Amino acid sequence: MRLKPILAGLALISVPFDAPTIVPSAYAEETEKSLYDRLGGYAGVSAVVDEFAERLFHDPKIAQFFAGMGDDTRASFKQKNKNLVCAVTGGPCKVISRDAKVVHGGLGITAADFNVVAGHLKDVLVEFNVPDAEQDELFTIILTLRPAIVDRPDEDSLSKDAPAQR
Ligand code: HEM
Repeated sequence: MRLKPILAGLALISVPFDAPTIVPSAYAEETEKSLYDRLGGYAGVSAVVDEFAERLFHDPKIAQFFAGMGDDTRASFKQKNKNLVCAVTGGPCKVISRDAKVVHGGLGITAADFNVVAGHLKDVLVEFNVPDAEQDELFTIILTLRPAIVDRPDEDSLSKDAPAQR
């Protein structure tokens, strides 16, 4: 039979192994959007981080960590966090902060301190109407940093009530 090799040849030409899968366009759009895009791109990330950072600076439970920061350092803290969140969610930003363990090392951050900070992030995401699925995705990423940030994982008190010995 002459037909078989011809068909086989055609199949090879028309369906290369990396041919794009055809999916309904609405579905494709939804699944292909990065978390960054679904958070509202840079404007969304920037607004969330600004509000999140202000809450950290002003929360008496943890404000002592940020007390010595002047305006410029606070602005830089916000910018570094924006770039970090942008980069880890698939956005086009460069990480401009230092390694998380190096930065937080020696601060004596407790499990309770971390929970206060995570709680502020959660509250801001809710207030900015970020859907649950996107909140969960962001938290999954942020929680990977927890071991690098928390110095005293077994301490359930806030640092302000259980100051670290240095
Ligand atoms: C929730 C996860 C956290 C993320 C994603 C995060 C992220 C960051 C980033 C990007 C910086 C700037 C690093 C640099 O200057 O290069 C930073 C600095 C800092 N963070 Fe965090 N952080 C987190 C949790 C915490 C917690 C729980 C505390 C304390 C309660 C804290 C206290 C600080 C302080 C005091 C600095 C300034 C350190 C310094 O410049 O010496 N952070 N953090």
